[in-house]
Amino acid sequence: MKMVIFGAPGAGKGTHAKFISKKINIPQISTGDILREAVKKGTELGQKAKGYMDRGDLVPDDLVIDLVEDRLKQDDVRDGYILDGFPRTLEQGRALEKKVDLDIVLNMDVSEDELTTRLTGRRTCSECGAIYHLKYNPPEQEGKCDKCGGDLYQRDDDNIETVRERLETYKKQTKPLLEYYEKEGLVRTVNGNADIEVVRDRVLRALNLC
Ligand code: AP5
Repeated sequence: MKMVIFGAPGAGKGTHAKFISKKINIPQISTGDILREAVKKGTELGQKAKGYMDRGDLVPDDLVIDLVEDRLKQDDVRDGYILDGFPRTLEQGRALEKKVDLDIVLNMDVSEDELTTRLTGRRTCSECGAIYHLKYNPPEQEGKCDKCGGDLYQRDDDNIETVRERLETYKKQTKPLLEYYEKEGLVRTVNGNADIEVVRDRVLRALNLC
């Protein structure tokens, strides 16, 4: 299955992409994770991307398209993949369309107030990337990952000012792409305004995996 998991910042793309990836054994390709890793390592890509990410803007299309095209040349994508956070402009959508026939665009629909609460309370494992929330999905031991014991951290872009910018960026630059995919008949929308387990069941049903 070649799928895009689509939605606003904080809609649960990463949370559910990780679950689907494990369940059907296809890789999650998160452009956000790849870019954060590049920033951490101080690569040329990371240096170019950092300012945009800190402001809540999108990284320029040419950089992101190149990185996804490279990633899709690797062997592990043969049986499918989940694109998480890509494409997020019409330009990126057009570039993907030239290379790939998508099976489905899974749209996670969550109200804006809820998105802000989710993002500002998120904590991420610095070792394995597992995602937690201080209130909705807390780790057993404060500040430590249940899965690997790694330290949890708050993403630089999860402060309230940057979250507001990211939500605006989504509305202006990314949402039009959803309308495009709807016209193509590729979209299945999941109501994400519920507990993680409830949304997970909805996701599985939408993908005919249960
Ligand atoms: P990216 O990392 O892709 O961030 P995003 O799209 O803003 O999405 P998030 O990772 O913030 O949210 P999510 O939907 O994955 O939610 P999650 O599952 O973590 O991108 C970061 C930046 O990189 C961009 O701003 C941009 O600068 C750059 N970038 C990336 N891709 C790009 C591209 N293609 N083009 C240009 N620039 C690009 O959940 C959030 C929280 O909610 C967690 O704490 C979780 O535990 C909790 N939660 C999840 N589901 C529920 C639920 N049902 N109930 C309660 N809590 C829940």
